[in-house]
Amino acid sequence: MPTIVFVSPKGGAGKTTAALVLANELARGAAVTVIDADPNHPIRSWAAEAHPGDNLTVISDSDEENILDRIEEAAATTPFVIVDLEGSAAKIVLLAVSQADFVVVPTQGSQLDAEQASRALRVIKQQEKMSGRPVPFAVLLTRTNVAIRTRTMTHIQRGLIDAGVPVLNTELHEREAFRAMFSFRQPLEKLDPKEVANLDKAMANAEAFAQELVALLRKEQGRTPGRTAEQVA
Ligand SMILES: Nc1ncnc2c1ncn2[C@@H]1O[C@H](COP(=O)(O)OP(=O)(O)OP(=O)(O)O)[C@@H](O)[C@H]1O
Ligand SMILES: [Mg+2]
Repeated sequence: MPTIVFVSPKGGAGKTTAALVLANELARGAAVTVIDADPNHPIRSWAAEAHPGDNLTVISDSDEENILDRIEEAAATTPFVIVDLEGSAAKIVLLAVSQADFVVVPTQGSQLDAEQASRALRVIKQQEKMSGRPVPFAVLLTRTNVAIRTRTMTHIQRGLIDAGVPVLNTELHEREAFRAMFSFRQPLEKLDPKEVANLDKAMANAEAFAQELVALLRKEQGRTPGRTAEQVA
């Protein structure tokens, strides 16, 4: 039932990668619908060749007009709904956020990316004002270097935390395997470890990401209305 929406107005922030990683992880144990609301339909293209099992359904006919219905229908049929959006601040983003049980804001480690993440947070705030309900959210740091913590990344992370913005403990590291998912059009577990470096590490990373999100969703479900994005910003 929970709907998880990936939002960032910045193109290339890592939304589609993180959404697909999460969808595949969750689909190992439950039915998942991915609403591929990006007009380029990267997840639909992936699924056309990957042939994911019965646990993963991809819907790619959603637009501004029908996104609310598509999310509602998907939430009624599968335990998890994941929405991947285009990198913009279009109306469809606001509509999808209005249905979210959790919003993930993927952000790479540059100042520019962090500024764009603030725009995403403003979209969440706007939606909270419109609906009068808090929208749980967190920033996901993506494409981070496993070996080195850059100063910029430390600065950005501190800035977010100091501003009271929730940041997931799990980062999605920069890994060849996350790119290979798309180039070979396979989920991580079907990639060949002989062809893809550090596949086991990417899989462990994916699992940690999914586990943290599921734990947060459980916490949110048991919570009475919490702080809104406006209160933390
Ligand atoms: N963790 C990662 N490790 C390695 N490469 C990554 C990772 N995350 C994203 N990428 C690469 O970065 C590029 C952009 O990622 P992605 O398509 O997921 O971003 P996006 O936010 O969905 O972009 P758009 O706004 O265009 O939809 C892609 O080439 C992808 O393969
Ligand atoms: Mg995308």
